[in-house]
Amino acid sequence: MFGSDPEYQMSDEEFRLIRDLVYNHCGMFFAPDAKYLLEKRLSSRLAFHNLASYKDYYLLLKYDIRKDQEMSDLMDVLTTNETYFFREAFQLKAFTDEIIPEIVEAKLKKGDRSLRIWSAGCSTGEEPYTIAMLLLENSMLKGWRIEIIGTDISHRVLQQARKGVYGKSSFRATDAAYVGRYFEEQEGGSYRLSDNLRELVTISQLNLFDQNRLALLGRMDIIFCRNVIIYFDQLAKKKVVETFCQSLYPGGFLLLGHSESLMNITTLFTLRHLKNDMVYQKPLTAGGGL
Ligand SMILES: C[S@@+](CC[C@H](N)C(=O)[O-])C[C@H]1O[C@@H](n2cnc3c(N)ncnc32)[C@H](O)[C@@H]1O
Repeated sequence: MFGSDPEYQMSDEEFRLIRDLVYNHCGMFFAPDAKYLLEKRLSSRLAFHNLASYKDYYLLLKYDIRKDQEMSDLMDVLTTNETYFFREAFQLKAFTDEIIPEIVEAKLKKGDRSLRIWSAGCSTGEEPYTIAMLLLENSMLKGWRIEIIGTDISHRVLQQARKGVYGKSSFRATDAAYVGRYFEEQEGGSYRLSDNLRELVTISQLNLFDQNRLALLGRMDIIFCRNVIIYFDQLAKKKVVETFCQSLYPGGFLLLGHSESLMNITTLFTLRHLKNDMVYQKPLTAGGGL
């Protein structure tokens, strides 16, 4: 064993078998040049189970009685969970200053004072709690029934999200006023979020490719899915985005990460050029390819 080479060697065949299994489970796609990455990230799982090869690990994932638990543990080591509060400020400005007022106006006309927002791929929770802070600050929404649902495939990050205790790096883009209003400093320099934020947010484990469980979520006004589909190939992106379209009310919004676009993926959504950002909207009438 030399340097930082993984202890186990992955053959091309083992790479293909595991790569396809992962892809079919969660849409994450590893190109051939990512073999070393997969090998490195999985080596801890082989060591944990005391297995001799990646083939044995593949067989465990596919046929063993522990396969569901192992797939879940595998997601914990494979996913990239980078996030922080108030990420992508210009988009959040569009959300607060343009999207929310538009939705509020449309809903008030129907006498509806409820709002449902889904943060899909919420990682450790900074995104849904940011949304909660922005909504609590908004006087238009006083007395509204607000539900924010944060979901992720990784149990490890969701435990963090439920705990609601954050270190300095989560606050790299946060105005001090928000920290003062919504967090309590803990011993050791971490911050615990306030109960009124926690009450607005429900955290659940959900694989975006699990159609049965997705159907239970119900309809949404806005879906945030930022920096998640970046790890999927075209086909997986299309599948997930079509599911989002079904989950949104007509006129609902889909907010992707700044480097993500639906170009060449689907025509189900209209691209809206708002003052602060470009966002996707489900058309009000049937059309847009539905
Ligand atoms: C980079 S984080 C993005 C966090 C947050 N949305 C943001 O933009 O700051 C990507 C998250 O997507 C989750 N993810 C990846 N594939 C998923 C899937 N198939 N279903 C649900 N979540 C998934 C990962 O576990 C990870 O926490």
